Amino acid sequence: NKGHYEHYMQKEIHEQPESLTTTMRGRLIRGGSSKAKTVLLGGLKDHLKTIRRSRRIVFIGCGTSYNAALAARPILEELSGVPVTMEIASDLLDRQGPICREDTAVFVSQSGETADTLHALQYALENGALCVGITNTVGSEIARNTDCGIHINAGAEIGVASTKAYTSQIVVMAMLALAIGGDTISSQARREAIIDGLFGLPNKVREVLKLDQEMKDLAKLLIAEQSLLVFGRGYNYATALEGALKVKEVALMHSEGILAGEMKHGPLALVDENLPILVIATRDSCFSKQQSVIQQLHARRGRLIVICSKGDAASVCLGGSSRVIEVPQVEDCLQPVVNIIPLQLLAYHLTVLRGFNVDQPRNLAKSVTTE
Ligand code: F6R
Repeated sequence: NKGHYEHYMQKEIHEQPESLTTTMRGRLIRGGSSKAKTVLLGGLKDHLKTIRRSRRIVFIGCGTSYNAALAARPILEELSGVPVTMEIASDLLDRQGPICREDTAVFVSQSGETADTLHALQYALENGALCVGITNTVGSEIARNTDCGIHINAGAEIGVASTKAYTSQIVVMAMLALAIGGDTISSQARREAIIDGLFGLPNKVREVLKLDQEMKDLAKLLIAEQSLLVFGRGYNYATALEGALKVKEVALMHSEGILAGEMKHGPLALVDENLPILVIATRDSCFSKQQSVIQQLHARRGRLIVICSKGDAASVCLGGSSRVIEVPQVEDCLQPVVNIIPLQLLAYHLTVLRGFNVDQPRNLAKSVTTE
């Protein structure tokens, strides 16, 4: 049921304040006079010690689910102190990469039925790793065959392009980071800031959804383009990859997410006055580096669209052809949840304006059950 929306993708983008609320329900403890702020993940409680002691945590997934894990990686590294590595399921299988008993392997999948991820799970189980599932589908193969897991509770996702599952996956993995990370004195303020940030997130998402018309106007400008580059780094490298994935899979426009730190190692050669380039430059520890990226792109007359934190337009806009989109600022590790939303809206409007099928892009299936 699409309600008053025209497409499922549109409905699923706009229901993210609610889906995120459901994802967090019953799992965050607000704290009180005697109680500390904390998270409770029932499905993991018997395994937290093993996870903390593992030699590494390896995230395994495909497409959007992989990108969600990439967005959560920095906070998991910071709070757990355990090395975190990333594997695209098919690539792990192609290489038969090493997985061992001391590893915790976390399988991220909206459907819980993706063939590549499922085969990687069988491979990790054979190699003795502790296998954790993060899925949106109760009773799915991945949910049933992992040792333990967390359900993201985002509600059924019908549009082929994953939107609300992505933001719920990031929130679940941020809660996973809090659950694994020890409650040390030195990390207490950071942990509390993240928990407060999680409580406030649905309202920030509601606020950023008001950019709908602005993103539709931007889509009108980009409607006839051949290509769109998206630059991000740090917490928002994943945002660049995921934004580009949305644009290519539904709007059928070439788009590429680029790690901004790699700009000078090749991509800079593409920059001219024609190619549109979106730069994610919200406030975090990488902000000044992103400002310098913007200056260099500008110096080569790049057509820039910059996503920045509210109030920062003047610090990122160098005049001329650049456009600025301001988003509310949240705790750095949660910023990818806010930042992806204008890109979801852009992909959606571009698709409708270009006259393509939003909910059922050509050649794609919601659940990829063959390798
Ligand atoms: C992109 C998209 C795909 C899926 C990928 C994994 O919008 O939907 O990239 O994310 O096929 O699917 P799941 O998460 O079901 O394993």
